[in-house]
Amino acid sequence: MGKFYITTPIYYVNDKPHIGHAYTTFVADVFARWYRLNGENVFFLTGTDEHGGKIEKSALEKGKTPKELVDENSDKYRQVWEKLNISYNRFIRTTDYSHEKAVKLFLQKVWDNGDIYKGEYTGFYCLPDERYITESELLDGKCPTCGREVQKISEEAYFFRLSKYKDKIVDAIKNGFIIPEKNANEILSRLNGELKDLDITRKNVSWGIKFPFDESHSVYVWFDALINYLSGLDWPDGENFKTFWPADIHLVGKEIVWFHSVIWPAMLFSAGIPVPKRIVAHAWWTVDGKKMSKSIGNVVNPIDMVEKYGADAFRYFLIREKPVWDDGDFSESALKNRINGELMSDLSNLVARVLTLAEKFKGKITGNPDLEGFIDEEKVRAAFDNYDPYSAINLIFEGIRKVNKYFNDKKPWTLEGEDLSNVLYNAIEAIRIISIFLSPFMPETSEKIERMLSVDTQTLKDAHFKTNVDSVKRGENLFNKVD
Ligand code: MSP
Repeated sequence: MGKFYITTPIYYVNDKPHIGHAYTTFVADVFARWYRLNGENVFFLTGTDEHGGKIEKSALEKGKTPKELVDENSDKYRQVWEKLNISYNRFIRTTDYSHEKAVKLFLQKVWDNGDIYKGEYTGFYCLPDERYITESELLDGKCPTCGREVQKISEEAYFFRLSKYKDKIVDAIKNGFIIPEKNANEILSRLNGELKDLDITRKNVSWGIKFPFDESHSVYVWFDALINYLSGLDWPDGENFKTFWPADIHLVGKEIVWFHSVIWPAMLFSAGIPVPKRIVAHAWWTVDGKKMSKSIGNVVNPIDMVEKYGADAFRYFLIREKPVWDDGDFSESALKNRINGELMSDLSNLVARVLTLAEKFKGKITGNPDLEGFIDEEKVRAAFDNYDPYSAINLIFEGIRKVNKYFNDKKPWTLEGEDLSNVLYNAIEAIRIISIFLSPFMPETSEKIERMLSVDTQTLKDAHFKTNVDSVKRGENLFNKVD
């Protein structure tokens, strides 16, 4: 049995989660469930990023203490993950004492390695992104990533010798550290320029971990946050750290690839810890054609979507509507089309038609496997191994359409006896196998099918035709038409 460690970024808790956050976490969940289905030992980490000036400011605006705000919003994240059936193994918070301890130990290692020095930071800072920006990076005087106002700051600071690790970082990226290539190329071209040392403390931010070598500073929120990937495994001595590190995938949005592919490996090189295997970047959702923003009022709350359409329909939409690396547009009308389209016509109707006929059949349902291999398992596996769950779901639905075609072509309503039994046997076994392949994407639907077929939780090893079919029971429709 192999191991598989996947992480999401930890989310800022200045506000409640929206579909952008739900997307990163859901895609990670699909990977985690897929590798579990393959019998791998999986650890899936997610959590919340709770320090820094942005949260401090938000709390102040809302008339709360930072602690009250982070407790409240961190809980909201957990609630959404529960509604979306996210199967994380641990939820980490950067305000956990054990995390703070890990950050301090990590800093000690970097300090002992001579990679921290005192200086003066003069430049710009984007508070929403918690990011330092040089004058040449500014776009029309604004943040080049989010387009918002930046602050000019000039303050005493401690620096990390990021520049020292440039060559090692470039080598790693050239060797496929970042997926997909377009994001790797972006980072490589940024690394063509000068790589400056990184300011890792803030003199004027008090909501943060105190910098152990000078407590008048707090640790820069990104330096603190990245260490969650280790503290989430109880680094340095935890069994989970020994079993799961290095991470197999850090799944991140495209705008934070720099932090994960440049700053994070440099920190690890300095602390003498192996670097993660892959940084996988996903692209962004717009909503009704526009960037999601509070001022436009188009921020989509994932809980509303789950309550209206169900977790699985929403999950299906998120994975099916766009390839992971391309931007895509979210709209409720597109979501409804997916439900009324392939979820109803390809999947739900197939299950209903087959099981209705099977319930009426007297006698044992058995036959010869005409449809073995209708979902190309090797191709699905290859899609996941290429970090591409979008292609995987398409392959699965191709298989589902083959079963529909088989069932229609055989015209089972005109058959009886052995001939009818054979068609039912093939269709029911196919549906059982479909439920296995769908389980990483639509776990509730998969369980509903298992209940209809009276089978227990299955793994990928069960995705082959058995000799006969146990009792079946047509339950409620898996999906219903939405207007
Ligand atoms: N706290 C940092 C991450 C620290 S990791 C050590 C952070 N948090 S975040 O809450 O701003 O965003 C986290 C994730 O949400 C990112 O992966 C980001 O890409 C994703 N999304 C936020 N808005 C999004 C869309 N509109 N579309 C898709 N994903 C987006 O960054």
